[in-house]
Amino acid sequence: MTPSGPILLAIESSCDDTSVAVLDGFEVLANVVHNQVMHEAFGGVVPELASRAHTEAILPTVKAALARAGKDFQDLDGIAVTQGPGLLGSLLVGHSFAKSLALSLDIPYVNVDHMEAHMLAHFLYESGVQEKPIPGFPYLCLTVSGGHTQLVQVNAWNDFTILGETQDDAVGEAFDKAAKLLSLPYPGGPIIDRLAQKGQPAFRFSQPNMPDLQFSYSGLKTSILRAMQKEVKEDPESLTERVSDWCASIQEALIAPLLQGLTLAASQTGIRRVALAGGVSANSHLRAEVQGLAQSLGWDLYLPPLSYTTDNAAMVGAAGQFAWAASQFAEMKDAAQPKRIVHG
Ligand code: KG4
Ligand code: ZN
Repeated sequence: MTPSGPILLAIESSCDDTSVAVLDGFEVLANVVHNQVMHEAFGGVVPELASRAHTEAILPTVKAALARAGKDFQDLDGIAVTQGPGLLGSLLVGHSFAKSLALSLDIPYVNVDHMEAHMLAHFLYESGVQEKPIPGFPYLCLTVSGGHTQLVQVNAWNDFTILGETQDDAVGEAFDKAAKLLSLPYPGGPIIDRLAQKGQPAFRFSQPNMPDLQFSYSGLKTSILRAMQKEVKEDPESLTERVSDWCASIQEALIAPLLQGLTLAASQTGIRRVALAGGVSANSHLRAEVQGLAQSLGWDLYLPPLSYTTDNAAMVGAAGQFAWAASQFAEMKDAAQPKRIVHG
């Protein structure tokens, strides 16, 4: 990667986080994430509230990112923005803002696919932080978030082959729904992760039988619910008194198919460069298990720093830098797209 490149302002607003980053090439000068906390009370993201909150947060977050990076609007060479997939109302806020700013500063902007950005976060670096290796192409990427569960062969920055994916719910969604069954707040993934560290995987759930490299989480969710109902009949306080054991059991059951899928994908493709991406890649059990697999199977493993696992604008900047280098500039008529924009 070039040590210095265009200065890009990157904007991410696809779901419930307003995030703005400033990048010099692939170096992250600032990455500000404004989390919307009001969704916690509803147990999930309320789209209308999310877009209203983005409207309020976008300008202060842009100003905060520029200030942290020590840059001004006039220093920007261009803008990278998430075009999709995501909630339309939320995307529109960031995308329209990016277009207006590009127009007023008379600089180009580039469109970024949110999921591709997650997978390209491995190319980011920060000054003063120990340099880590970046993956060469092709690499396998397990992309696990609140909306996606995919095994992807990343052939190039703009060439992605989906080897397998969930046929129903995403694994992050399953974490969040299981947490709700335990009366834990949204988003449940990080809380299950934390509580699981104090528990044992004492409860078992039936796993679905899926064909090669495909995943399914809706049946597993029902099987978790059934197991809870059965246990509560015998021990009414089980869900609170043994909450850590429930979390450890749920976490193990949700992660196991991912480990199997990743192992199979690596052996089928012969690719030994393996990466994780997306919010669920922050999960400590997943990270530890994949590290164990990498050691025993001889993979080169690329784990994103925790700050680049959940939604953030720095990853949008990484994808933006690739698009910029390829002169793939966007046009003013381009609109936000709630569905995946597939490359490759
Ligand atoms: O990538 P992300 O921030 O947003 C989407 O694009 O969906 O992923 C959010 C998801 C949520 O479902 C959240 O519960 C999950 O990532 N998550 C985790 C952890 N941290 C975030 N799941 C398990 N363990 C974690 N430590
Ligand atoms: Zn995401």
